[in-house]
Amino acid sequence: MLDPEAELVRGDVRNKDVVRKALQGVDSVVHLAAEVGVGQSMYEVERYTSTNDVGTAVLFEALIDAPVRRVVTASSMSIYGEGLYRDADGGLVQDADRPNLRDGLSQWEPVDAQGRPLQPVPTPEWKRPALSSIYALNKYVQERTTHIMAAPYGMEGVCLRLFNVYGPGQALSNPYTGVLAIFASRFLNGQAPLIFEDGEQRRDFVHVSDVARAFAEALFLPQAAGGTFNIGSGKDRSVRDVADSLARAMGRNDLSAEVVGKARIGDIRHCFCDTTLAAERLGFEAKQDFEAGLAELAGWVAQQTAKDRVSEMRAELEARGLVA
Ligand SMILES: NC(=O)c1ccc[n+]([C@@H]2O[C@H](COP(=O)([O-])OP(=O)(O)OC[C@H]3O[C@@H](n4cnc5c(N)ncnc54)[C@H](O)[C@@H]3O)[C@@H](O)[C@H]2O)c1
Repeated sequence: MLDPEAELVRGDVRNKDVVRKALQGVDSVVHLAAEVGVGQSMYEVERYTSTNDVGTAVLFEALIDAPVRRVVTASSMSIYGEGLYRDADGGLVQDADRPNLRDGLSQWEPVDAQGRPLQPVPTPEWKRPALSSIYALNKYVQERTTHIMAAPYGMEGVCLRLFNVYGPGQALSNPYTGVLAIFASRFLNGQAPLIFEDGEQRRDFVHVSDVARAFAEALFLPQAAGGTFNIGSGKDRSVRDVADSLARAMGRNDLSAEVVGKARIGDIRHCFCDTTLAAERLGFEAKQDFEAGLAELAGWVAQQTAKDRVSEMRAELEARGLVA
C-alpha cells in the first residue's frame, strides 16, 4: 500500500521529461530503478546498458538543473566478482580465479596462482572490483556516475552495495535474480529448486527491512555523505543450506533440490559481506533473524502466484553456451 502522503509518478528512467517531473520539489533521490538479472545481462546487453547506464545518465543530467541534497544509489556485491580470500600463507587474495572451470573441470573452489586452495573471508569495500557480467559493469557505472556527478553539482552521493536481499514483496517470477525468490517460486509451483555447481557456494542474505533502514541512514546521516558501504547481514550461508531452510519454512521438505553440477558463466563461488565500515560510519547492524525472516517470506509467498520460468532461463543460458 502506498503511503497517502506519497506521490507516485510512473515512467521510464530514460525518459527525461518524466524524470524532470519526478524531481520537482524533491529534496533527495534514492536510485533503485534497474534491470537486475545477472545471467540475462549477458545476452540482453543493450537493454541492460540502456536502463542501467543511460537511465542513470538521464537522472544526473536532470539533476544538473534541479540539484538535490543527496542521491543514494543501490549498487551491488556483484561488482566484487569473487569475494576476498586468504591463501595458504595467510595473505589476502583479491583476484581469486577459477581456471579449472574454464578447462571444463567441475572443480568449483578458486585457487591461487600456484593452484593452491583459498579460504573465503568477508569482503570489505576496499576489495578491487572484478566485473564479470554486464550487470556488474552496469552497477559499477551507476556507482561511479553517482560519485563523479554528485559533488561537482553540490550534491552528496552515497552508494550502498547490497548483498543478497530477500523478503516479502520481492519479484518472484524473475528467474535470473534473487536466489530465495527463485527457490520460493519453485516450491510454490511444486518444483524442486535448481542449484548450480554443488550448492556449497556462500552468500550473505540480508532482509529487506534491514536494507530499508540502511537506505534511511544513508539518506539522513551527515557522515554517510560521499561514502560507499556494504550492506549485508554479516553472516554467510551456503546456497544448499538456504534451500533446505526455505523448504522447511514452506513445508516442502519433500522436494529436494536438483544439484545441476554446472556453473553459469560469470557466477562467482563465494562472496559475503564485511559489514565493518557500515557499522562504524552508519551504526548499521542487520537485525532480522534469518529463520524468522524465512518464515515471514514463506507466509507472504503462500498468498502469491508466481510464474516458474526457471526451465526457460536454463534453456536460454544453455543455448548461448553460458552454462559450463
Ligand atoms: N535484490 C537484491 O538482492 C539486490 C542486490 C544488489 C543490488 N540490488 C539493486 O537494488 C535495486 C532494486 O532491485 P530489486 O531487487 O528490488 O529488483 P526489482 O526488479 O524488484 O526492482 C527494480 C525496479 O526497477 C524498475 N525498472 C526497470 N527498468 C526500468 C526503467 N527503464 N525505468 C524505470 N524503472 C525501471 C522495475 O520496474 C522494478 O520496479 C536495483 O538497483 C538492484 O540492482 C538488489
